[in-house]
Amino acid sequence: MRLILIGPPAAGKGTQAAKLVEKYGITHLSSGDMLRAAIKAGTDLGVQAAAYMDKGNLVPDDLVVDMMVERVKESDCDDGFLLDGFPRSLPQAEALDSALSEAGVSLDAIVAIKVPDDMIVGRITGRRMDPETGDIYHMDFSPPPAEVASRVVQRQDDTEEACRVRLEKYHAETAPVLPYYESTGLLKEVDGNAAPNVVTEQIFDILS
Ligand code: AP5
Repeated sequence: MRLILIGPPAAGKGTQAAKLVEKYGITHLSSGDMLRAAIKAGTDLGVQAAAYMDKGNLVPDDLVVDMMVERVKESDCDDGFLLDGFPRSLPQAEALDSALSEAGVSLDAIVAIKVPDDMIVGRITGRRMDPETGDIYHMDFSPPPAEVASRVVQRQDDTEEACRVRLEKYHAETAPVLPYYESTGLLKEVDGNAAPNVVTEQIFDILS
C-alpha cells in the first residue's frame, strides 16, 4: 500500500502513522524526521534546512524533493510506504507523481486529517517526544509514563511563534495540494478533532 498522510502541523500525522505502519507493515517516511536527522548529523542538507525549520518556514522544494524521491526508490519501499509531511506544496506533489510514474507505481490513497486552527497551538506547545523510542506524548492529552517523563524532549520548532508561521505556511502552500489530489479521486478526509484511537478507526475504515 502506498499512502500519504497530509494535514496541518500537529494534526496527528506522526501519531496515526505509527498505527498504520504497525497494521500494514509499510515503511514510514516522515520528511520532518528525515530533516531533523540531517540537522543532527550536521550534513549540508541539515545545515541548510535548520535555518528554515527553526522559524517554522518550509524547506525549499528542491532540497526536500531530492531527499524524498531518492528515499522512495530504496528497497524497503518496494512493498509500500507511508509519506508523512510530504508532499507539502504543489511542486512537491507534481515531482512525486513524476517519480512514481517513472517507477511504474501509483498511490493508493491520500488521507487528509482535518483539525481546526484553534486546536493546533495547544497540541504543539504540549507535545513531547521520547528521544529513545520516538514515541510522541502530550503533557495534557497523553502524558508520558513516570519512567519516561524525565527524558522527554520538546522540538525546537514547537514554540507558539513558530507554530503560527507553520500554520500560515500550511494554508498558503500545503492546502492547495488537497484539490490537486481530490481530482484524482484518491483523497479521503478524516476528522482529526477526536480522540487518537477514534481517528485511527476512521482511517482503518477508509482504507479497508
Ligand atoms: P514536520 O515534522 O512534518 O511537522 P508538522 O507537519 O508541523 O507536523 P508535526 O510533526 O508538528 O505534527 P503531526 O501532525 O505529526 O502531529 P503529532 O502526531 O506529533 O515538519 C517540521 C518542519 O520540517 C516544517 O515546518 C518544515 O520546516 C520542514 N519540512 C518537513 N517536511 C517538509 C516538506 N515536505 N517541505 C518543506 N519543508 C518541510 O501530534 C501532535 C501533538 O498532538 C502530540 O503531542 C500528540 O500527542 C497530540 N495528538 C495527536 N493526535 C491527537 C488527538 N487526536 N487528540 C489530541 N491530541 C492529539
